Amino acid sequence: MRKDVRILLVGEPKVGKTSLIMSLVSEEFPDEVPLRAEEITIPADVTPERVPTHIVDYSGTDTCTSLYDETHMANVICIVYSVNNKKSIEKVTLCLKLLNVLILLSCHRVPLILVGNKSDLVEHSSMETILPIMNQYSEIETCVECSAKNLKNISELFYYAQKAVLHPTGPLYSPEDKE
Ligand code: GTP
Ligand code: MG
Repeated sequence: MRKDVRILLVGEPKVGKTSLIMSLVSEEFPDEVPLRAEEITIPADVTPERVPTHIVDYSGTDTCTSLYDETHMANVICIVYSVNNKKSIEKVTLCLKLLNVLILLSCHRVPLILVGNKSDLVEHSSMETILPIMNQYSEIETCVECSAKNLKNISELFYYAQKAVLHPTGPLYSPEDKE
């Protein structure tokens, strides 16, 4: 039985990583957020899978070393983009490449989740752009569109992250399969 789950959020600046965490915790959209949320721990009895869950924010202003350390400690990583920001979607691929190197160095399985935030700002879905990326990277467990502002899919997002760790569906990560 796992003793806890550690979820790390990464992504381009201003896509809403900190807002997502604060929305989950306070169940309302915060007008102002710090650059980086303090690490929070959700007690086992209020999580769907009954496992204490730590949520870790990452900010672009942090150093590369801390991304390495955080990747090393994470059980699952959410790559956040903003559905209304094309550049943040393009950067997902770059982020995947970087994380794959860091995960390889850390020698443990880390499922990834793609998170399209700010769904309140667009009519269309980003799935068409995201699906080809998903098909290319088997480490990606799932993707979800959400809105920190409308609180849409927020608890689902963190549930998917927990589930990716506790009940993985993807192949176990094996470096030999990589070129
Ligand atoms: P860095 O820490 O600088 O990397 O940014 P971040 O990814 O933590 O983003 P942050 O939470 O600071 O949000 C950036 C801006 O987007 C803020 O003005 C938020 O109010 C806004 N924002 C965040 N989530 C949403 C959302 O779901 N919808 C809308 N409309 N705005 C959002
Ligand atoms: Mg932030």
